[in-house]
This record gives sequence, structure tokens and C-alpha cells, in this order.
Amino acid sequence: MTILVLGGAGYIGSHTVYELIDKGEDVVVIDNLLTGYKEAVHPKARFYKGDIRDREFLDSVFEKEKIDSVIHFAASSLVGESMEKPLKYYDNNLCGTKILLDAMVAHGIDKIVFSSTAATYGEPERIPILETDKTEPTNTYGETKLSMEKMFKWVGKAHGIRYVSLRYFNACGAHKSGEIGEAHNPETHLLSIILQVPNGQRDAVSIYGDDYDTKDGTCVRDYIHVTDLATAHILAVRYLEFGNESNIFNLGNGVGFTVKEVIECARKVTGHPIPAKISPRRAGDPARLIASSEKAKNILGWRPEYTDMEAIISSAWKWHKSHPQGFKTCK
Ligand code: UFG
Repeated sequence: MTILVLGGAGYIGSHTVYELIDKGEDVVVIDNLLTGYKEAVHPKARFYKGDIRDREFLDSVFEKEKIDSVIHFAASSLVGESMEKPLKYYDNNLCGTKILLDAMVAHGIDKIVFSSTAATYGEPERIPILETDKTEPTNTYGETKLSMEKMFKWVGKAHGIRYVSLRYFNACGAHKSGEIGEAHNPETHLLSIILQVPNGQRDAVSIYGDDYDTKDGTCVRDYIHVTDLATAHILAVRYLEFGNESNIFNLGNGVGFTVKEVIECARKVTGHPIPAKISPRRAGDPARLIASSEKAKNILGWRPEYTDMEAIISSAWKWHKSHPQGFKTCK
């Protein structure tokens, strides 16, 4: 049984490949390396450099490899960029997935697990957020991910493809080996930005708004370790292999931390004062996003291991400290 990981050189994709290989799975990785890094691909995975929008390329891999299930991370994922370049997101996320599904149908591949996001909900009606809550994205990124979910639904009905959509909350942390971790360029994610201060790459963190209706006025997020996300993908593949029906699951720890609390915890872990300054709010940031992941726990049997913020930050710090520039090929 071979599992194909699309986007397996990216942050969450590479961690999932490490967990799959650790569990003895045979893994093929496709990545166009536009935002991913070749060094992040596990040496035991068979790597093909190419783009999912290239049908001939996909056909050539599907002819060469006997793929049983697909895990799909190959998408653009920056909220801010998606508002400035919406067509890039429609092209990469939606057109890419359309071509992928065409190829899967043609080659008789009928199981797919894919990355969705808390951004499909938009401004939540209640906390914690359930999978059945209203989905009204406030940015193009979330909109394209929601459209991808719907594409899977309708294509699934017509062609018998079953899917699991995993709606992540705030992914963070790094692999326990210290070999792979978060490396975005430009970096926009809170924890990586915070850790650039003790790493000597920036003088201070900007806190985007301290006038939200939260306990200290800064935004609340549900931070979930990347290895726990990786584990959920493997459970989702197993769920489909056992013949279960298509489904959607939230993935978070179910606990909210404010921006100020994350900074304070990073000060404790790194021993650095990490100066912070208040900046204007960032457009499109909801005040509070916290997941209910009861469904993933009950149905997939998912049990996140990193439930402690200090442990999450320590794992990220181990990676950033030893790789201040990210991967060698970081542009
Ligand atoms: N923040 C700061 N300063 C920074 C960076 C971030 O104060 O320098 C704040 C943000 O305003 C936000 C929180 O830290 O309140 C977390 O921000 P991130 O950019 O790390 O993450 P987001 O919550 O914006 O984004 C995450 C995922 C997206 C997903 C989104 C759902 O990264 O993929 O949640 O809203 F779409």
C-alpha cells in the first residue's frame, strides 16, 4: 500500500511524511518546491518534483507508482496574500484540486485526506467551534478551502471517491528529532515570529491589537502541535481504508491562548525578555478561535500528545535555535 503525499516538502506535509515512514508506510511525495524544501522530504520517501496543475506529470507518477490513498497539502495558505492575490488561490487551490481529482478518477484512486482550515468558519458564532457550525469565510484562502471541501463532496458522489477534510486551527511546533520544522518565507505565523527575537533576527514582536474583547485584549487562538496534526492524517487514512464514509473533522487542542500569553510562555522557555509592542489590528483576524475536536477524538480515536504550551514552544525553539535560517535552501 503506497500513500501519496502532495505538498510533502511543506511544513505540515513533511511532518506527516516523517510519521508515516516511522509507522512503516511506503510513501511517495510530490511537491513543486515553490514554498516547500527538498531537505524537508524524508530520505526514505520517493520524491517527484512537479505541480499538481500539470496533468501529464500527475499521470506519469500515477502510472509509475501504485497509489492507494492520497494526502493533499499542496495549496497556498497565507490569509493576507489570499486577499491581495485571490486568483493565485483559485488557481493553485481550486484548479489544482480539480486537475488532481480528474487524474484520481482516471487512475481509479478513491481515497483522499486533505488540509482544510479553521478559516472556513470565518467569525465564529460560538466557542468552541463544531464542524456543524456556520461556514462563512472572511478571506479568499478560507473560501477556496471550503470550495475544495464541496468539490470533494460532489465529485465523491459521482465517482465514488471518499474524503476526509481536516480543519486545522493554529499549527505550530517542530519534529522531535529537530531535523524538520517551520520555515516560511516570508514568515507570518506568531510563534515563529516570536522566536526570531531570541534568535537575533528581529528586535521585538508586534502584537496586532490589544483592544479585542478577550481577557487581556489580544486575540485568542487554539495552538496545535504539527506532529499531532500529522497523526490525525494517518488515522484519517486508516478510517478511509476501513471503508468509512466521507467526513470533516476539526483539529485543535480545545484550549485558547492569547497573543500575550504565548509571548510570555516563549520568554519562559527561551529565557529571553522578548520585547513586544502594540500595533494596529491585522485585517480579518477573528477575536477568538477555539476548536471542539471531540468528533476527531470519538470517531478517529485521535489523542493529541502536546497539550502543554511550554512543550509546544520548546519543540519549536529546539528547531529554530539549531536552524536560524530554516533549511539550507531557504531563499
Ligand atoms: N499575531 C501577532 N503578531 C504577529 C503575528 C501574529 O499579534 O507578528 C497574532 C495574529 O493577529 C493572531 C495570532 O497572532 O491573532 C495568530 O496569528 P497567526 O498568523 O500565527 O495565525 P492565524 O490565526 O492568523 O492563522 C491561522 C492559520 C491559517 C488559518 C487561520 C484561521 O495559520 O492558515 O488560522 O483564521 F487560516
